[in-house]
Amino acid sequence: MAGIYIHIPFCKKLCHYCDFYHVVSTDDHTDFISALMKEAEIKQNYLGKETISTVYFGGGTPSVFTVNELETTLKHLYKHFPIENDCEITIELNPDDVFPEYLKGLKDININRTSLGIQSWYDEDLKMLNRRHTAEGAAKALDDIIKTGFDNISVDLIYGIPGLNIERWASNIDRTLTFDIQHLSAYHLTIEPGTLFGKMMKKGRFKETDEEESVAEFNLLIEKAEAGGFIHYEISNFGKPGYFSVHNTNYWKQIPYIGLGPSAHSFNGYSRQWNIPNLKKYTKYLKEDKLFFEKEELDLKTKFNEYILTSLRTMWGIDLEYVENAFEKEGYDYVINMAGKFINYGLMVQKEKSLILTNQGKMISDNIVSEFMMPGKND
Ligand SMILES: C[S@@+](CC[C@H](N)C(=O)[O-])C[C@H]1O[C@@H](n2cnc3c(N)ncnc32)[C@H](O)[C@@H]1O
Ligand code: SF4
Repeated sequence: MAGIYIHIPFCKKLCHYCDFYHVVSTDDHTDFISALMKEAEIKQNYLGKETISTVYFGGGTPSVFTVNELETTLKHLYKHFPIENDCEITIELNPDDVFPEYLKGLKDININRTSLGIQSWYDEDLKMLNRRHTAEGAAKALDDIIKTGFDNISVDLIYGIPGLNIERWASNIDRTLTFDIQHLSAYHLTIEPGTLFGKMMKKGRFKETDEEESVAEFNLLIEKAEAGGFIHYEISNFGKPGYFSVHNTNYWKQIPYIGLGPSAHSFNGYSRQWNIPNLKKYTKYLKEDKLFFEKEELDLKTKFNEYILTSLRTMWGIDLEYVENAFEKEGYDYVINMAGKFINYGLMVQKEKSLILTNQGKMISDNIVSEFMMPGKND
């Protein structure tokens, strides 16, 4: 059981908040697809005989690829990897790229999960974020996805954005939940240094949403999503029963994956490696059958910290049996000692052999996670 992530780095417009690796381009994709194929060949033995249970086209904006381009890429993956019959195959879609024929094409090539980046149902928010779609465009796209017969549909929303208040956030969630969707990812806006928002903030021209408002929006999100039949299975993710993202859940459960494309990460259980976040160099090197990447061997402490970071954000929490097996008595004692304080404050509970954040704990999960981190050699 393993995953393949394909990073399609093209965007037609630059969103003011986003620092995922992307280039604004309408160039031909031929060279890039050839490079992806070369990389897939180079990495075909990276995970040994592990079968592939999920494929995820992310970005950037994978929906700038035509159905033919996606099909060519997928066929190549089928040729080089043992892909399971019921593999979850996801594509991230920009509402502006979605139309019925395109969706039918995606279904015909066995893409069975869609993730639509709506972000907000207010045009003024979309403008402020510099999205290229409108609210009505998003409604039409979501309708079309449902009508095409997709039955594993996710929507992305963003909260904690300036100008959004609790009433508007309530109506963003409500409108989303009127559609027959199975999954919702809702992210609090993070201000990244290299983005326009980050630069504006540095100059004092952008004010982050205050903490009280953020907490109120997060609470409302949990309340409304749960009332709508969604399970809060990770800090930013909600799924109807049976519809959690298998691909992302596997990341959080330390299951290995292969990343293809510029900036993509790969993980084989022992080391992590990441491709150069530069499309030109990525393509140029692969033309010469070379892959430009950096690599980190994961020592026990790093593995421990990664496990805490990901597991604490999920509804399954820290598995104490796993900790004892993987990190021995030292790791186990460390976790138990740390947890005591958070349990006393009502931020964490122990359920059988797991330590899980309460809703109150989820509000300050970043602080709890950072307190749990085992200091490294240089800290
Ligand atoms: C990297 S995008 C890729 C999907 C596609 N390009 C799109 O924009 O819909 C995946 C999701 O990450 C979220 N995202 C990206 N940057 C973010 C930020 N700084 N704060 C909060 N959410 C962010 C957005 O909700 C977006 O839909
Ligand atoms: S949010 Fe999506 S469309 Fe916007 S810049 Fe990032 S990857 Fe591109």
